Amino acid sequence: MYKPLTIAIDGHSSTGKSTLAKQLAMELSYVYVDSGAMYRAVALYALRNGWVSKEHGCQDDAIIEAIKGLIITFEIDSTGKNNTYLNGECIEEQIRTMEVSNVVSHVAKLVPVRRRLVALQQAMGQQGGVVMDGRDIGTVVFPDAELKIFMTASDMIRAQRRKSELDSSGQEHSVMEVLQNLKSRDKADMERSDSPLVAADDAKILDNSAISRPAQFDVVLKWIKETSKKLL
Ligand code: DC
Repeated sequence: MYKPLTIAIDGHSSTGKSTLAKQLAMELSYVYVDSGAMYRAVALYALRNGWVSKEHGCQDDAIIEAIKGLIITFEIDSTGKNNTYLNGECIEEQIRTMEVSNVVSHVAKLVPVRRRLVALQQAMGQQGGVVMDGRDIGTVVFPDAELKIFMTASDMIRAQRRKSELDSSGQEHSVMEVLQNLKSRDKADMERSDSPLVAADDAKILDNSAISRPAQFDVVLKWIKETSKKLL
């Protein structure tokens, strides 16, 4: 019997981290945690309160104070979809808008926000048997994860994939607008001083610009088998 693993998936925006993580969690009967959804939930809360706006600037103190009382949870619905809840309200659709994407990097660079969300993420994964995706999972949240994967893909391919996702949820944005947002989020993620986006030294790099989803899944299942065997 193999030991349940902690699988950390990090990488650039829109590289298919969540899709892969969900698929793996389903295959292995592991818990799936979308850490990006948690940053998006805080960003949505800040937006609703008018604490992040281009016109009026950002009220970081208010966000930092509020984070102490926010309850962010996940629930799987009857169709098997993983939904994010904020203080008991399902916010899965609201957190996927460009409006949230445009401000989430600001919220994600606030150190007290990161500390609080990292603690919640560690609690969610403490039993092992977890797949978590984000930007700092293999470096900060679970530095001892048995398997770390760092995903990347070309800018244009990522922008096209993200645009199709937005299109299918009825949100129309040009590919250039989406590309701009991805690039600026990657830049903010890589340049922030606290837990920047970087591949862990022991991460396996997965560039999926030119590989199909099923082929990628097979590669990762092979890595999981190899990792599990080494732990026997
Ligand atoms: O994975 P995503 O695109 O839904 O994440 C939204 C934002 O949250 C992303 O732009 C960076 C931030 N994030 C982070 O800083 N650390 C994480 N572990 C996950 C996401």
